[in-house]
Amino acid sequence: MGSVIVGTGISVPENVVSNHDLARIMDTTDDWITTRTGVKERHFVDPGVGASDLAAEAVTAALEDAAVSARDVDALVTATMTPDYLAPGIGGLVQAAAGLGHVAAYDIRQQCSGFLYGLDLADALIASGRAETVAVVGAEVHAGFLPWSEGTWRAVLDPTGSVSDEEYARNTEYRAWSVLFGDGAGAMILQRGERADEGIQATSLHTDGESFELIWVPGIGFKSRPYVSARDLDEDRHLPRMDGGGLFRRAVRLMPEAAQAVLDETGLGLDDVDLVVAHQANDRILEGVRKQFGMGPEKVPSNIGAYGNTTAATLPILYHELRKSGQVVPGHLVCFAAFGAGAHYGAALYRVPRAVS
Ligand code: ACO
Repeated sequence: MGSVIVGTGISVPENVVSNHDLARIMDTTDDWITTRTGVKERHFVDPGVGASDLAAEAVTAALEDAAVSARDVDALVTATMTPDYLAPGIGGLVQAAAGLGHVAAYDIRQQCSGFLYGLDLADALIASGRAETVAVVGAEVHAGFLPWSEGTWRAVLDPTGSVSDEEYARNTEYRAWSVLFGDGAGAMILQRGERADEGIQATSLHTDGESFELIWVPGIGFKSRPYVSARDLDEDRHLPRMDGGGLFRRAVRLMPEAAQAVLDETGLGLDDVDLVVAHQANDRILEGVRKQFGMGPEKVPSNIGAYGNTTAATLPILYHELRKSGQVVPGHLVCFAAFGAGAHYGAALYRVPRAVS
């Protein structure tokens, strides 16, 4: 029996930063960001709030939505690229904050594909009989990931704020990737389904390790002694390096390939798919996916305009919104697809149970 999604929940911080706000702290424009990425605004946490805080809120909301007690969760799977601490991961923090008891709490780190990998792990735990109820959560706090000073943060959150020439130049140096990201979390509660033709029908997960450097952080790691140094900071080796074009080309090719693989495995075709819930990295990537599938935005929807790229949280936030707006209905065939750093990518095919959505 495929695992079914019995509840969803999200947590999105209140601070909203628009493209116009970014144009006050770096050399960019609303037009450039909108045309090249589709992002209009993104949300950021207050200082001191971590991915574990958003994740715990999302899990609690999803449990409430599912009408499942925290004590009935048998395992927790957390996915984030931006953990509160380098070690340990956020699994334990989320477990404790959400009051799940001492159940196994996994930390997985497949970045933009983290939630998809988490879904597969949850399905495997349920299918093997090791768990009946699994919470899966993707959460990111990219605020700390951005190369912005305290002064820049003050300015970007104050509509009349501005930055020094020096800060403006530094922020501009990193504009290609810093405009893409936002904070948020999304969770799902999964349980064993009642019918073989409902719930998760197939998953196809892949990793192209040779493309590791498409987006990565070269500094701060245990291959160095000490693992963090003044040199790392002086040379900005703690900030990501990104080959935007390389990511773009692979995402457009590999998400549809993985989607086709799960369709082939189940003997279904593109015409059977009602919704493609794809990773929200760039609207133009989604446009490429739509083109390959011959589908419009109603079948390959986007919410990147409101959140930016929330890495491990994009799939559950979008799915939650689609459910709540009535766009996911009983019997629908949903294809989840993701591509991101690692390079990890894949797809999952999900049949919404006739009894619940
Ligand atoms: N504002 C204004 N101009 C900018 C900005 C900006 N924010 N960023 C870059 N530019 C400039 C560049 O400097 C360049 O100027 P030049 O022509 O004078 O040299 C010009 O715009 C074009 O830059 P490109 O990099 O060629 O722009 P492109 O159209 O490729 O878009 C982008 C770049 C948006 C990054 C795109 O490649 C992309 O979204 N790629 C995918 C990224 C992605 O998928 N990330 C997700 C993975 S993240 C993860 O897994 C955690």
